[in-house]
Amino acid sequence: MAEHRSVLLTCSGQRVDIVRAFQDALARRGEGGRVLVSDLDPLSPSLVSADLVVDLPAVDDPGYGTAVAAVVSREGVGAVLPLTDLDPVVLAEAAPEVADAGGTVFLPAPEVAAACQDKWLCHVALEAAGLPSPPTWPTEGTDRGSLPYPIMIKPRIGFAGRWIHRCADQEELDFHLSRTPVASVLQKALPGEEFSIDCLGSLEGTAIGAIPRAMYQSKGGEQIKGETLDDPQLVELGAAVVEGLGLVGPCTIQCFREDGRILGVTDINTRFGGGFPLPVAAGGDYPSLILALAAGEDVAPRLGTHRAGVVMTRFLSEHVLVRDGDQLRPTTGREEAVSGGI
Ligand SMILES: Nc1ncnc2c1ncn2[C@@H]1O[C@H](COP(=O)(O)OP(=O)(O)O)[C@@H](O)[C@H]1O
Ligand SMILES: [Mg+2]
Repeated sequence: MAEHRSVLLTCSGQRVDIVRAFQDALARRGEGGRVLVSDLDPLSPSLVSADLVVDLPAVDDPGYGTAVAAVVSREGVGAVLPLTDLDPVVLAEAAPEVADAGGTVFLPAPEVAAACQDKWLCHVALEAAGLPSPPTWPTEGTDRGSLPYPIMIKPRIGFAGRWIHRCADQEELDFHLSRTPVASVLQKALPGEEFSIDCLGSLEGTAIGAIPRAMYQSKGGEQIKGETLDDPQLVELGAAVVEGLGLVGPCTIQCFREDGRILGVTDINTRFGGGFPLPVAAGGDYPSLILALAAGEDVAPRLGTHRAGVVMTRFLSEHVLVRDGDQLRPTTGREEAVSGGI
């Protein structure tokens, strides 16, 4: 186990911020270990930043979990974390196999991971745990005439705000329901302000961290502008959701609040949120804590110890690469011009 020091980030996509944060955490730990990534798109920016790119099959391939376990064993991986919503359930199912190979999957039990992906099951799980969830109805068998409009139509399994519509009345709901191609739920459109809480659950599902942030601006599900908050009520809510559902590893919990009253938890992602740099900058240091947990160390809860008033405003960045045979080679972005042109 001791030699399993590396980190595997699956479906790593654009999450260069997370790759770098784990590289930094490994360097500070000073025991070696690399950041490994996988993504089916060979042009995913995170592949350029990682220490090693590993080949994995598509997430719906029946051999995916076994392939992850093989990488864990071969490359000495201690911690496995998904970076998108594509593979948390299949990775959670593979956790025993990964454990046999010497690594830890930072996800809750498969049925909890599945419930967090499905907005109907999530509502049921929150209510069963005595946690606040907005009034939510299935699309089948609900009398649409008696709903308390405005109503949101939301995909059961959705992400990045896709196929979500706010419906002012039954006519709008009937229209969107007739057009949506995905299984959906109906949810009361909540007033008030929306918040996000970046949490970390221990391997036993106790809350280690809960860092609330205001969501000033999001684009396509990614937080562009936000700020960490000194907000004990939201810290408490984050910890209660982690412990009520048994969430393991990093997760992001979204909720609405009006006049000091929590109206409901609207979304839970069992992975690092799009606002990842903010809790890190606010002293959350989740990557280091995950390395410590993967190494079997005790990590004490640190609820309410983050720095408030840390503000993030995002911009696009890039890797510029040059084709060199069948390789892509990083450049400074200032290649020499070709001499003797036309
Ligand atoms: N019940 C609701 N009331 C008001 N707005 C909502 C509600 N549910 C979702 N939204 C809005 O839609 C956005 C996306 O919804 P969310 O449940 O987070 O789905 P996704 O899984 O796509 O991120 C939220 O950030 C919020 O702005
Ligand atoms: Mg969301």
